[in-house]
Amino acid sequence: MIKHKNILKSIGIVTILLFSSISIAQQKQARIVEDFNKNWNFKLGDYPTAIQSNFDAKDWRTLQLPHDWSIEGAFDKDSKTKQAQGFLPAGKGWYRKVFTVPANWKNKTVSVEFDGVFKNSEVFINGKSLGIRPNGYISFGYDLSQYLNFGKENIIAVKVDNDAQPNSRWYTGSGIYRNVRLVASEKLHVGKWGTYVTTPEVSETKSKIHLEVTIDNDNVTAKEFKLVTSIVDAKNIEVANFSSTEKIGAKTTGKKVHDLVLNQPKLWSTENPYLYKVITKIYEKSKLVDNYETPLGFRYFNFDAEKGFSLNGKPTKIYGVCLHHDNGALGAVENINAVRRKLKLMKEMGANAIRMSHNPHSLEMMQLCDEMGFIVQDEAFDVWKKKKVTNDYHKDWDAWHKQDLEDFIKRDRNFPSVMMWSIGNEIREQFDSTGIAITRELAKIVKSLDTTRPVTSALTENIIEKNFIYQSGALDLLGFNYKHEDYKDFPTRFKGQKILASESVSALETRGHYDFPDGIKAWPVKHGAPFDGNADWTVSAYDQVKSYWGATHEENWKTIKKQDFMAGTFIWTGFDYIGEPDPYPFPARSSYFGIVDLAGLPKDVYYMYQSEWTTKPVLHIFPHWNCKAGQEIDVWAYYNNADEVELFLNGKSLGKKSKQNDDLHISWKVKFETGTLKAISRKDGKVVLEKEIHTAGEASKIDLKADKITIKNDTYDLVYVTVSTVDKDGNVLPNATDLINFEVTGGGKLVGVDNGYQANLDSFKANSCKLFSGKCIAIIQSNGKKENIQLKASTGNGISVGSLNIKVE
Ligand code: GAL
Repeated sequence: MIKHKNILKSIGIVTILLFSSISIAQQKQARIVEDFNKNWNFKLGDYPTAIQSNFDAKDWRTLQLPHDWSIEGAFDKDSKTKQAQGFLPAGKGWYRKVFTVPANWKNKTVSVEFDGVFKNSEVFINGKSLGIRPNGYISFGYDLSQYLNFGKENIIAVKVDNDAQPNSRWYTGSGIYRNVRLVASEKLHVGKWGTYVTTPEVSETKSKIHLEVTIDNDNVTAKEFKLVTSIVDAKNIEVANFSSTEKIGAKTTGKKVHDLVLNQPKLWSTENPYLYKVITKIYEKSKLVDNYETPLGFRYFNFDAEKGFSLNGKPTKIYGVCLHHDNGALGAVENINAVRRKLKLMKEMGANAIRMSHNPHSLEMMQLCDEMGFIVQDEAFDVWKKKKVTNDYHKDWDAWHKQDLEDFIKRDRNFPSVMMWSIGNEIREQFDSTGIAITRELAKIVKSLDTTRPVTSALTENIIEKNFIYQSGALDLLGFNYKHEDYKDFPTRFKGQKILASESVSALETRGHYDFPDGIKAWPVKHGAPFDGNADWTVSAYDQVKSYWGATHEENWKTIKKQDFMAGTFIWTGFDYIGEPDPYPFPARSSYFGIVDLAGLPKDVYYMYQSEWTTKPVLHIFPHWNCKAGQEIDVWAYYNNADEVELFLNGKSLGKKSKQNDDLHISWKVKFETGTLKAISRKDGKVVLEKEIHTAGEASKIDLKADKITIKNDTYDLVYVTVSTVDKDGNVLPNATDLINFEVTGGGKLVGVDNGYQANLDSFKANSCKLFSGKCIAIIQSNGKKENIQLKASTGNGISVGSLNIKVE
């Protein structure tokens, strides 16, 4: 179908109406959006004949998407995916679904939308190929209308080819790992990602809204229609509207523009992420033919070469974390509940920003950043034309980078949380002159679609003569990864440039494991030299082990904190992720870089950030108090909002300490003795907080703590249960390693277990999990039955069984 572009600017009168409604706005929905995740068949391997309607898929598994087959496999030292991807399998797989569409959809445009398929997907409808999509992170869709059997059965088949390995520097997952939707609209409708909203002027007194709507007319006749824009607030109350009468030719795509003004808008900020929505409606005569929602937030921000970043005029340091897309034990499977849990943990730590490392993330991730108040650095690529690993995206670069970048921007440009476009992470082309032209080309593509955010790139080379991406002059904001000692030179070296530490730290820790005495160790001393780590593949949690290119959390934060010109930083990483277990080889299979472990259990340094990045009172002491008699223990405390902390062992004071100069923690050397370690923080002589840790005795029962007490019976909702063994007084046994067996009955099923131990080779899909540093988690997902869920946990070694009831709503 050939479409002609016509761009019309609507002329009309802006009306600002509070609580108004227009007479034709009775009907609310015309567009049909259906969950298309259920009842797919799946089989590992290559089945080209599965596209045919008579193909027999009886022996294929039936499952609900999103699905990741890699996470179901076993860790294998010889896996083609190698260490970087966590030694899990990849390969090829096919998905197939039989579905019917109502006969009365015959006059509609029907499309299928995939949020992400890893990778090299090819989608077939009723035997016809709709297209291929090599990039595993990009969202895409196809118009199915001309191929569908209306009122009858249809077959959709998806081939996924993740066989060529290695193709990534981290765990990717394999399969249709994000959501799929079926969308039906009338032939006259808003196009795919067809709205673009900007706020050319923002203030608390008055803001301007500029909306561009791309409209597809798939009819064979020209159409006259009414285009209605209404702005609704967070309670869905209309606060402004505008309408215009428009014309569009047959089989044409056209762009229409609406400009509105809103008095006294509530601003979007990281503390109060107030969201409005733009509701776009198309009417033919008085019939609603399409409705479409676009997120809208009013905020203004600025990067300044001397003063760093500000949001709505307020100086704001970017307290950011980098995140990869995996959801721990769920693998790459996208689930909004898993993402919400991750972001909640980051928010409580005080983070106000997320860097989408190093690829487009899910729609849910973006929506939650809007809703929960995170500043987003949205990142498109980890490689351009020059490879990092044999089969990575460099192979698809020439054919696909333009379309992928355009689609990425179009999908994400309406999210108010997005404040930077990163065109690449540590791209090889920064080291040679080809980097100049590519940077300019990419920046031009971004600017053709959005000029409201700066274009940046995460660079490693800070010597001007050696950095060709910088030399392109096409970056609005310079992102530098690591080398924090060099920051002090940047204001003179990069005079007048806006600068951000796009990636920092890469320190390593294993939750709950402590090497005594503490003291900073760089890993490895020389690149390629063996790491003299621990025999059990653990790394001490004292924030003392750092990569040779990185810094400890404290070293880095002390530097960033003092430098006003530095907009902020993104810590590598908020969570451990599968893959990149450097410096250890197999059996280590997930990273050590997280502030929080893979299971979502915070490491101690989480509280260092909390004490610095929030104003809520913090007092965290560690390690645990089950050590060897007479052993000398380094007791650390992170605290804030106090002048001093006093430590007591079994009631006896071990002295008061306070942070000197730029200290971020205080510590005592304490001879271990069984009993109670207690810390009291005081300000002006008044107690701020008290914390006690006790030596735990014999295990007496299994303790189960769920993150919520009810679950929706929607087949997606999750409950995360933290499991530990406790003594008769309720003290957690910090060194317990018991194997816990799980049994789930009622309206839920066990979908993942994990203990955060980076070298654990047991399956994330097992019905049991060993405690590590005293803890593990069990993830329960609704199975759709409206029955309350019971989780039973047992050790089989005499510790009394734990049980937990979860109410299903
Ligand atoms: C960075 C890179 C990240 C990750 C990290 C590990 O250089 O950008 O993707 O590999 O190192 O320290």
